[in-house]
Amino acid sequence: MNEIDLKLLELLHNGDFVSGEKISEEIGVSRTTIWKHINKLKQQGYQIESATNKGYRLVKIPDRIVPEEVYLGLKTDYIGREIKVFSSLGSTNERAKELARKDFPTGTVVIAEEQTAGKGRLGRSWFSPPGTGLWFSLIVRPDIPPNKAPFLTIIASLTLVKALSELNPELKPLIKWPNDILIDDRKVCGILSELNADLGMINFAVIGIGINVNQDYFPEELSAKATSLKIALNTRIDRTGLLQGILNFFEGYYQKLLEGRFKEILKEWKGYLNILGESVTIYSGSETYQGRVIDISSLGELVIKDNSGKVWSFWAGDVTLRKEEN
Ligand code: BTN
Repeated sequence: MNEIDLKLLELLHNGDFVSGEKISEEIGVSRTTIWKHINKLKQQGYQIESATNKGYRLVKIPDRIVPEEVYLGLKTDYIGREIKVFSSLGSTNERAKELARKDFPTGTVVIAEEQTAGKGRLGRSWFSPPGTGLWFSLIVRPDIPPNKAPFLTIIASLTLVKALSELNPELKPLIKWPNDILIDDRKVCGILSELNADLGMINFAVIGIGINVNQDYFPEELSAKATSLKIALNTRIDRTGLLQGILNFFEGYYQKLLEGRFKEILKEWKGYLNILGESVTIYSGSETYQGRVIDISSLGELVIKDNSGKVWSFWAGDVTLRKEEN
């Protein structure tokens, strides 16, 4: 996309009519040049209405993630200021790790329209069909002790809950400990954070986020457990707007994390957990634990009391959890 296209989109992006005269004045090119660029954008899938005496109006943008469009709606200083979009990748986490090793800065985002080897937690795979979801990874280099790294996933899940609630207050997303986002008891987002650390310091982390956005249905093995925003709201969702919201919220929480406001973050996170007080079964390797969730520790661990009154703490990395029906 060249500079004239970008300026045009910037002038039209709030959806109001802007006259050809004003556009040509602002950009400093002739009205014929403007007209040619409008036609070019239309060929790329932008829907632009033109009306005599009124000018041009942007009606719809194509359903593709275009970094320049994302930048237009960012309120951040450094999160999302460098966005790399790929039509297909194995896994955005893998590509983000490669870029992090090449010194790409905090806030770099790697997005793929499709992942052919999308990774989930505990070695599972993540279903990432083309164009329907948001599959992306964020590079961060937080100056916090490695034992606080789980907070990266915690702030990511808080960010998602906030951005989804802003998208539509009816969604009422909840967090299934440690980091699944549920709507109507079905999974709509997953988070996979990966850490590169040594000698008590974090070199970088990659926070991978998968959001089911515009899927109409899921493969049979997932359909009972998964949902998409489109299914929940019965309407197509603009992925660019959603991504902007996520990046904007993330920067606020990331700042809090850098300032060491762990307690405050944890308190807010607990407010969205759907697990406190519930009876659960925890699977950790070959061991099984049953009990009631009594708290979340200051490190974000799940604390349960088993039937004999013994208290156990679990961090998310190596356990799966099943909530029992009461
Ligand atoms: C889970 O719930 O198991 C975590 C799923 C994380 C999926 C995302 S999609 C973008 C990023 N790239 C990956 O390979 N995985 C994460």
